Amino acid sequence: MADQTFYITSPIYYVNGVPHIGTATTTLLCDSLARYHRLRGEPTFFLTGTDEHAQKVADAAAKAGQTPQAFVDEVSQRFQECWHFLGVEYDRFIRTSDADHKAAVGEVFRRLQAQGDIYPGQYEGWYSVADETFFRDSEVENGVAKETGAKVERVTQENYYFRLSAYGDRLLRHIEGTPGFLEPDTRRNEVLAFIKEGLRDVAISRPNAGWGIEVPDDPAQVIYVWFDAVINYLTATGWPDNANWDRVWPADVHLVGKEIYTRFHATLWPAMLLALGLDLPRHVLGHGWWLVRDPRTLDLVKGSKSGIPLPTPQEAVERIQELSGAGREAAVDALRYYILRDISFTGDAEFSFDNLIERYNSLLANKLGNLLNRTLTITGQYLGGVVPADGAERTQNGDYAALAREVVGDIERALLALDPAAALQAIERLLKAANEDIDAQAPWRRNKEGDAPGVAVALYTSLEACRLAGVVLTPFLPHTGRLIREQLGIGSVPLGRWQEETQWGGLPGGTKTQPPQPLFPRIDTKAKPATAKPPKEPKPTVTEPANTPAPDTNTTDTITIDDFMKVALKVAEIKTADRIEGATKLLRLTVDIGEAEPRQILAGIAESYAPEDLVGRKIVVVANLAPRKMRGLESQGMLLAATDADGRAILLHPDKTDIAPGAQVR
Ligand code: MSP
Repeated sequence: MADQTFYITSPIYYVNGVPHIGTATTTLLCDSLARYHRLRGEPTFFLTGTDEHAQKVADAAAKAGQTPQAFVDEVSQRFQECWHFLGVEYDRFIRTSDADHKAAVGEVFRRLQAQGDIYPGQYEGWYSVADETFFRDSEVENGVAKETGAKVERVTQENYYFRLSAYGDRLLRHIEGTPGFLEPDTRRNEVLAFIKEGLRDVAISRPNAGWGIEVPDDPAQVIYVWFDAVINYLTATGWPDNANWDRVWPADVHLVGKEIYTRFHATLWPAMLLALGLDLPRHVLGHGWWLVRDPRTLDLVKGSKSGIPLPTPQEAVERIQELSGAGREAAVDALRYYILRDISFTGDAEFSFDNLIERYNSLLANKLGNLLNRTLTITGQYLGGVVPADGAERTQNGDYAALAREVVGDIERALLALDPAAALQAIERLLKAANEDIDAQAPWRRNKEGDAPGVAVALYTSLEACRLAGVVLTPFLPHTGRLIREQLGIGSVPLGRWQEETQWGGLPGGTKTQPPQPLFPRIDTKAKPATAKPPKEPKPTVTEPANTPAPDTNTTDTITIDDFMKVALKVAEIKTADRIEGATKLLRLTVDIGEAEPRQILAGIAESYAPEDLVGRKIVVVANLAPRKMRGLESQGMLLAATDADGRAILLHPDKTDIAPGAQVR
């Protein structure tokens, strides 16, 4: 159907916490693809929103001392603000507390109940509030879900069940007969294995504790949050009452993170659709996670859920601004670029500001910013800022034009294959080649030689490369796309003109270009960070072993969270403490930090503590310090202590003594 809509969805996010880089990632992936389809002139519908009926949301509201509704209203608003801040252009922001959604959920429930696919029963098993997931006995070990490591609780309750088991075979046939339905292949295989293990009917309601969508005709029960949530994709089309709902349904793409892929988006939801007799989405796409380095173990772990936070988008943008001096919109684009370039569909990626800075400098500041800057500068100097009249014709058959056609083809293929990172890699090739081209054509030399046609060809090629970059970057970096074109003296890319705008030679001769304005100021990686205010409270200092200079506690330099996270702090229990012959300040301790063997630590605290008073105490140590020798003994770490006005060491202790040695401190 010609007016069939390109319909793309992000997950709807739980509102127990505010958006972070992880949730922003899926939203931005969808945004870039939706923007691309709008530029192609296709009717496009991008849906995002918030998932509000989770148990953990009600728990968070209670903790905040608010009613669930007031709480979700506030946090949902924070999501919308954050997406606006990031330049996300969604078509609808759905909330599961919206009236039309509640109606659609009720309708699904009634239809499936009427046809016998929903029936009452008793559930006895495990539930993880963190994952909002029911687990079988075989999926649980030592009180945690094996799949996610989250704590589970035993529940016995009256429930309604969905007859998932009846749809396994049909689902398998659909997956096997529909290439591209589940992507990437590794996840598809995981789903096939999951279904082949045998699907069991699933509990889809829980006792009504005052929060959730009530089961039709049974207000003692509310609908299980996942059964409620996935229906949002259908609600937003106007199903079942809006006559045009099937212009939007089926969704072209459900884009989600990998942890909610197999069980929910590739099994439960398609099975519900099969039961309803509705078409299945065309693609269900799962991306990997942002991992962050755990400073204690040095392992990479999932950001945010692991307890090691991912920054909020606002924090990340502020940080980019501080580092680079870029304006807010440029910093937002820099964050968008880093996220979209590095997140992976097939694996995970490490989030760090060091990686971000590298990408920023290499592509945004150097390959893109410099190219535009020098091209506009010399166009101003040699051509009075006017685009050569016959530039398009003269460069049409040039090597760069040929390469640009090929690369634009690659960009399109990548975007149609729903792969923003591959498209950005192709754009990098376009820019790298443009820099090489202008260096090789050396308009500055030709200008000296009086070779006016040579100068015109070189500069038109470079100006046109910038224009093309502006077009193809627009879905990813909308502000930058606009700014490039403004500086070239042309307006924004009109929606629906992607095809025309990506042809070589679109920059009209005679256009008056503008003086360059730096897009992305380079980040000086050697510069010291900006000074911060001195701390108001005396901070605990790390006591260096005797005879090394104490750290300068008056320093006003800040460190980054990445710097801090490199320090592995652990709870330790002091096992032995002895004086060292001939040393007045140093004690030799052995401490248990949860490793096979206790460690030896030398600490300059002999003037403040008697050895016999120390044994059995719990303290905090730096566990990843390189070992060093003092008085012939190796110190394998350092303990934390404050220093009082008389220079005495005051040990830091955990607030509760039953904490296990080896516990992380942050
Ligand atoms: N409410 C459910 C989804 C229901 S969809 C019908 C949910 N919400 S969530 O708030 O936990 O968001 C999970 C999503 O956030 C992931 O699927 C992924 O899109 C994104 N991410 C959260 N942490 C992430 C990383 N560390 N890395 C990348 N994306 C991550 O699950």
